[in-house]
Amino acid sequence: MTQRTQQAPPEQQAQQAQPIELRHVVVAGAAGFIGSAYARNFVAWHPRTRITVVDKLTYAGNPENLAPLSANPNFAFVQTDICDYDAVAPLIADADAVVNFAAESHVDRSIYDPDVFVRTNVLGVNTLLRAAKEAWSDALARGETRRFVQVSTDEVYGHVAEGASGEDAPLKPRNPYSAAKAGGDLLAFSYFTNYGLPVMVTRGANTIGPYQYPEKATPLFITNAIEDKPLPIYGEGKAVRHYLYVDDHAAAIDLVLHQGEPGQAYNIGPEHSELNTVQLATRILDYLGKPHSLIRFVPDRPGHDYRYSLDSAKVRHLGWAQRYDLDHTLEATVAWYMEEPNWWRKIKSGEYREYYERQYGKALATA
Ligand code: NAD
Ligand code: DAU
Repeated sequence: MTQRTQQAPPEQQAQQAQPIELRHVVVAGAAGFIGSAYARNFVAWHPRTRITVVDKLTYAGNPENLAPLSANPNFAFVQTDICDYDAVAPLIADADAVVNFAAESHVDRSIYDPDVFVRTNVLGVNTLLRAAKEAWSDALARGETRRFVQVSTDEVYGHVAEGASGEDAPLKPRNPYSAAKAGGDLLAFSYFTNYGLPVMVTRGANTIGPYQYPEKATPLFITNAIEDKPLPIYGEGKAVRHYLYVDDHAAAIDLVLHQGEPGQAYNIGPEHSELNTVQLATRILDYLGKPHSLIRFVPDRPGHDYRYSLDSAKVRHLGWAQRYDLDHTLEATVAWYMEEPNWWRKIKSGEYREYYERQYGKALATA
């Protein structure tokens, strides 16, 4: 497996990320993919900090993702909805930081049913911000440290035909998921501007790695290929994404939590990791020794953003260094799904089947 060796390992990155010491961090949405990677890393990076995960456990939330933390005395889990003010407010009042991963996160589901995306990605974010503002106002007035990181996405910049989006690029989201995420970003900044809440927003690239729900292209393609099922490719398969390893994304968010400047956005994107969908599918099939004939072209995603690209100089300047290159990112991800069939086979037998049939049944039958 190839790996960048010239850059700091995560332990060193974490040491860089400790000019302030936090006592208790509430991490919302950490039973999902990126949040759980953050939580699993967090206890090693910050052994003296308590972490309370709050998560509704939607279809995408899975307690198994947090199982390695269950015996850790610094870890607690509370099942709740981020829209429930009464449930989240006391937890935030006892914390000195919030990192919010909680979201409805899948573009195709947002096109089918936008309402829940607006509820969680806009109203839920507002609930957390309001709880933090109200709980922390006295402490902030006394000059005590409080931090709020809203985890967002490169999708808020919309389709980027060429070049790369800096943090000040206009927000032009084009699907209900990214439009709702942009709403969350803007609300977060409004709490900084109007109430002085120390909010940072991160905008990450397309992230892959262990524990990603197999509705997203990469784990869908890997698990379908393992099962010798077709890989559905939207349109001509020319849409481009930059693929970021989940632990790199988690390390950057942690750096922003500890060292970011309030009121600022930080892009988090990898270098030299651009692939279109056909290239992604082909690389996965080659790793698994499966035939390219498993590729099936199906009707395009409506409003498909054909390219995202981030200028991440700002977070690099803060001290973040991408640790994993594209080869490692893909190889490690494929290897994990090969080694952990029980994790994804259970998912693929439940609500997932209904979703899969609705999303792909007719398209694959006629492809
Ligand atoms: P995910 O879908 O795997 O996990 C989302 C988690 O949020 C789940 O555990 C779910 O149960 C929880 N959740 C959903 N609604 C909730 C609610 N109302 N109250 C409490 N919990 C709720 O998502 P992910 O891929 O890990 O993404 C995490 C965050 O990172 C999201 O905000 C997403 O927009 C952002 N992001 C994702 C990517 C990516 O490529 N996956 C890239 C950039 C940014
Ligand atoms: O860029 C960050 C975003 O990355 C995050 O904000 C989102 O939460 C996350 O889901 C992801 O969004 P994408 O739309 O980029 O990811 P997805 O895996 O759905 O699709 C990746 C590409 O693959 C995209 O061009 C659409 C294509 N695709 C996807 C699926 C699910 C297919 O061709 N076939 C498919 O079946």
